[in-house]
Amino acid sequence: MVSDIAHELHSPLNNIRVWLEAAEDGVAESDDEFTTSLLEEALQLQHLIDDLQGFAAADAGVLRLHREDVFVRDLLHQVATAHSAAADAAGVILTVRTDDDPKLYADPVRIRQMIGNLVSNAVRHTAARGSVELRAVGAESGVTIEVRDTGHGIEPEELPYVFDRFWRAEKSRSRSTGGSGLGLAIVRQLTHAHDGTVTVHSTPGAGMVFGVRLPVVRADGQRSRLTRTPLRPR
Ligand SMILES: Nc1ncnc2c1ncn2[C@@H]1O[C@H](COP(=O)(O)OP(=O)(O)O)[C@@H](O)[C@H]1O
Ligand SMILES: [Mg+2]
Repeated sequence: MVSDIAHELHSPLNNIRVWLEAAEDGVAESDDEFTTSLLEEALQLQHLIDDLQGFAAADAGVLRLHREDVFVRDLLHQVATAHSAAADAAGVILTVRTDDDPKLYADPVRIRQMIGNLVSNAVRHTAARGSVELRAVGAESGVTIEVRDTGHGIEPEELPYVFDRFWRAEKSRSRSTGGSGLGLAIVRQLTHAHDGTVTVHSTPGAGMVFGVRLPVVRADGQRSRLTRTPLRPR
């Protein structure tokens, strides 16, 4: 883990150093483009460190959940609103569909982070004119929150690795897809912390669907127990 982290921190920091050295030598002019590159690298570092802090807390079992009643319909609309600018910029249609409005007993901040990570991935990996759909499928035993995209998906043999920390399908981190590589590892941790499960299905070239299944608060006030229902492609 430590060597993974060192590797991930090395590249943005190295880029910053090279840029600054070039400026010092008078090779690079410190113009707007220069500032933007440095800022991008600094943001990448900060994003990684923020995610690492959350990841480390959950890993150590000290992640404190501040649970309260959370309504799934509100939750999905909040997440969609938070990502609507990114979706617009990418030309991706982002929609929310809920039939029922199940209630969770969950940490609203963590749950938004979890679903938000899935939505940001979906938007990032979907081409213009594609779509991302957020959907809640309710049942007595639990709710499944689905994030479904029409993006490029990944190969079936890669599926077992998607939740591993720092795993990426595209081996060289490019600027436009430069996440921390911890997004899905965090999703899995937070789901487990909420007594839930997460599943994934991919159709290469056609899209991907992630399903987060969580216990709901039933009418009698008790929390449901999850039963297994596998995800199916549509
Ligand atoms: N919706 C998606 N469509 C295609 N590939 C995806 C999707 N979500 C995740 N991936 C793949 O899984 C990898 C890991 O995702 P994640 O843990 O969020 O890290 P990051 O987004 O920082 O690269 C991504 O780099 C990408 O290769
Ligand atoms: Mg991500």
